[in-house]
Amino acid sequence: MSTLQLGVLVSGNGSNLQAILDAIADSRLDAAVRLVVSNVPDVRALERAERAGVPSLTLCHREFSSRELYEQRLADVLDEAGVEWVALAGFMRILTSTFLRRFPDRVVNIHPALLPAFAGAHAQLQALNYGVKVAGCTVHFVDEGVDSGPIIAQRTVPVFDDDDEASLSGRILTEEHRAYVEVLQWIAEGRIHLAGGSEGSRARVVRQPP
Ligand code: GRF
Repeated sequence: MSTLQLGVLVSGNGSNLQAILDAIADSRLDAAVRLVVSNVPDVRALERAERAGVPSLTLCHREFSSRELYEQRLADVLDEAGVEWVALAGFMRILTSTFLRRFPDRVVNIHPALLPAFAGAHAQLQALNYGVKVAGCTVHFVDEGVDSGPIIAQRTVPVFDDDDEASLSGRILTEEHRAYVEVLQWIAEGRIHLAGGSEGSRARVVRQPP
């Protein structure tokens, strides 16, 4: 097992980034965050990186003339920082093959719903409006679709009759922090295997060697 060389992409609050940083500090996660990149300036996630002494930078997509040029630069800065795996943590941009082929099968995301239900924005509100009684989060590989890559792990939470978007989001977020750290540790241990099939790829977690 070797220390996971991680890049984390953010756009906002960064509580998942914080969960990752805390788990590394507590030796629950064998990883090093080599670089945090935000596409939005002055967000809380950048403050969290700074407080943890982790390198960070803002790479604003609006300053690039095309999506392709933005993604090339994004991949370059991560590469130069020694990043091997990329974790999206509230990163509000769709990534295309320009970026993904630079980190093949090494980009993961966390989504606040039980995929394939409620992909896209405001997933918790979509779930509430639908009237589901169980909600949750999903950690998955990133492909070119919207929240559509192979699922690695899911965690569930109950939905209560008096929930609103904020209360449900908070309950899901607590599970997100646990799920993301757990999956990243599995990756560090080399335990996630992607098997291709005619219907698409499936991710499975290999049992720990005895
Ligand atoms: C989380 O709900 C995550 O699932 C979604 O964006 C939110 C980011 O929260 N992709 P935070 O910035 O990690 O606090």
